[in-house]
Amino acid sequence: MPDAGDLSIRPAVVADALAIAEVHVACWRETYAGMMPARVLAGLDVEARRHMWRRSIRHRRSDTFVCVRQGGGCIVGFAECGPVRAVPKDFDAEILAIYLLADVQGQGMGRALMRAMAAAMVARAKRSAALRVARDSPGARGFYEHLGGIEGGEGSHRVDDFNIVTTVYGWSDVSVLL
Ligand SMILES: CC(C)(COP(=O)(O)OP(=O)(O)OC[C@H]1O[C@@H](n2cnc3c(N)ncnc32)[C@H](O)[C@@H]1OP(=O)(O)O)[C@@H](O)C(=O)NCCC(=O)NCCS
Repeated sequence: MPDAGDLSIRPAVVADALAIAEVHVACWRETYAGMMPARVLAGLDVEARRHMWRRSIRHRRSDTFVCVRQGGGCIVGFAECGPVRAVPKDFDAEILAIYLLADVQGQGMGRALMRAMAAAMVARAKRSAALRVARDSPGARGFYEHLGGIEGGEGSHRVDDFNIVTTVYGWSDVSVLL
């Protein structure tokens, strides 16, 4: 699996669930500060996410990867792809999440996570994929456009009582991400 200096990517195992949940909550607070109400971000629950990640990794209907720091093996990012949930049904698969802590962004690990997911999707005979991104996330949108994602329609995603406007990006052939 690819690496950049002291960072590398590997498939997640069930024992990673708590660390992924902690990074998940931390990344949401970093990424969506100012985009989502502070009370929604303050209310994010690590324990609920730990259960969700345990279930998801154990059931293997989706593929989850973690970005780890060498040495301690500390998890600093993650990504998940799997069956279509919220993007248009004409795509074969959905990129369900991709998050890196701010201090490891911009070092090629986002591209490496996309490559790992593309390989997993190809291995499951999935050709096309899409994701949803917050419409007001210029950094992530620029990243997806740089990697060849084609902008599709808009939608919304509910977090507690807050609706965030989303934009779809799709790849008709995920092998371009390999
Ligand atoms: C979005 C994210 C996953 C990208 O990962 P990253 O490690 O920062 O990006 P990389 O360093 O792998 O960049 C890969 C390529 O995209 C380019 N790129 C990254 N951001 C870009 C942007 N905003 N506009 C244009 N190009 C961009 C890089 O220059 C690099 O180009 P190259 O490989 O051709 O030299 C990461 O920044 C992140 O986790 N952000 C916060 C969480 C988030 O918004 N997640 C998305 C939720 S939908």
